[in-house]
Amino acid sequence: MDKESIIILDLGGCNSQLIARKIRQCNVFCEILPYNTDIEKIRRKSPKGIILTEKVEHTADNISSTCNHNIYELGIPVIYIGELIEHINLSKEDSPKNIENLKDFLYKTCGCVGSWNMTSYVDMSIRQLKEKIGDQKVLCALSGGVDSSVAAVIISKAIGKQLTCIFVDHGLLRKNEADEVEEIFTNQFDVNLIRVNAQERFYNKLAGVTDPERKRKIIGEEFIRVFEEEAKKIGRVDYLVQGTIYPDIIESGVGKSGLVKSHHNVGGLPDHVDFKEIIEPLRDLFKDEVREAGLVLGIPEKLVNRQPFPGPGLGVRIIGDITPEKVKILQEADYIYRDEIARVGLDKHISQYFAVLTNLKSVGVKNDKRTYDYTVALRAVKTTDFMTAEYIELPWDVLGKISKRIVSEVEHVNRVCYDITGKPPATIEWE
Ligand code: XMP
Repeated sequence: MDKESIIILDLGGCNSQLIARKIRQCNVFCEILPYNTDIEKIRRKSPKGIILTEKVEHTADNISSTCNHNIYELGIPVIYIGELIEHINLSKEDSPKNIENLKDFLYKTCGCVGSWNMTSYVDMSIRQLKEKIGDQKVLCALSGGVDSSVAAVIISKAIGKQLTCIFVDHGLLRKNEADEVEEIFTNQFDVNLIRVNAQERFYNKLAGVTDPERKRKIIGEEFIRVFEEEAKKIGRVDYLVQGTIYPDIIESGVGKSGLVKSHHNVGGLPDHVDFKEIIEPLRDLFKDEVREAGLVLGIPEKLVNRQPFPGPGLGVRIIGDITPEKVKILQEADYIYRDEIARVGLDKHISQYFAVLTNLKSVGVKNDKRTYDYTVALRAVKTTDFMTAEYIELPWDVLGKISKRIVSEVEHVNRVCYDITGKPPATIEWE
């Protein structure tokens, strides 16, 4: 790659990702590698400098032994960002005391010019993909989410119709979502798109299932089956696209405390698709960089800035068993909620917001008649990492308007509640 880079050797510090982001914001490409990466591998990458990040008791001596090699023999500037900078045996005038001085380290000490930006990165990726793929065939499972959309477009810009995208409508998407995805990828990007309308299939498999983890499993497995069936019709492909992004790479293998939810994106890897290699065009990018790349590629802002949407979709927002009728109720209520939030411009200030169809029916009155209908819950949270979250204090008048619209426009809903619980103890999704 014709790019200047900095390597962060991660000795267990929790701020590696933050520092990497800051470096990229200085227009210098930065990569995080495990502390024990082979020195020859580092050398081949020809970095302009090395940063060590950690928070525990390392000294110059034990850093070298922990890293399994003497990083100083690379002959490039090395700095340490952590609590114990005074222990490090490097030229003190070159070592910034905090990140504030990062720019000096990058530009003055390491001699970077700062030529990395998203437009040049996207251009370079397209060139490299074109070269790698040549005239071979590529298959992509398009979900309509940000990552798979950006991955599909970048590959389509490189190889055009050699790419086929399969988009499975599992019937648990938000209102109009499937049509919007189809419109963007066929009219705007001229991608080879196969849309599979598999709603009935999913509803049949899910009928009567109430356990959230079973729902997730069924949706994930059925998704793979549908995808495989369609892929079979295409025959052998050379590459399968995955929308893996940089945090997935860094975080893979890092031990997590107990499983709360299985949290898989719909998909995973199909067993019966004939391909020779996985291709991951976004594996170097952080989430906000993926969005930036999407904008550079001309993907509509509405799609690029989409809030996260779980792979199992509305399946984990309908409490209890799923029926087509319940999906319709939730789609309508959620649509009104999103419409009103966007109308008052709050959408840009909320990390995630959605409606939930609770399994609760209660008594109400409409047009002087007794009703016995569903309760819809609304959720809006602010979070940076989705591991913890705070509920948003939505203005009463906005909530009031949303509630009024939902109970008057959506059939079979006679009550609306607002969820004022943080994570923990609640999770963001209700299931
Ligand atoms: P929770 O509910 O665990 O959600 O607080 C944290 C974030 O993960 C999303 N989420 C999922 N995403 N498949 C996904 O792709 C899932 O099964 C799943 N469950 C939760 C959730 O929307 C939130 O952004």
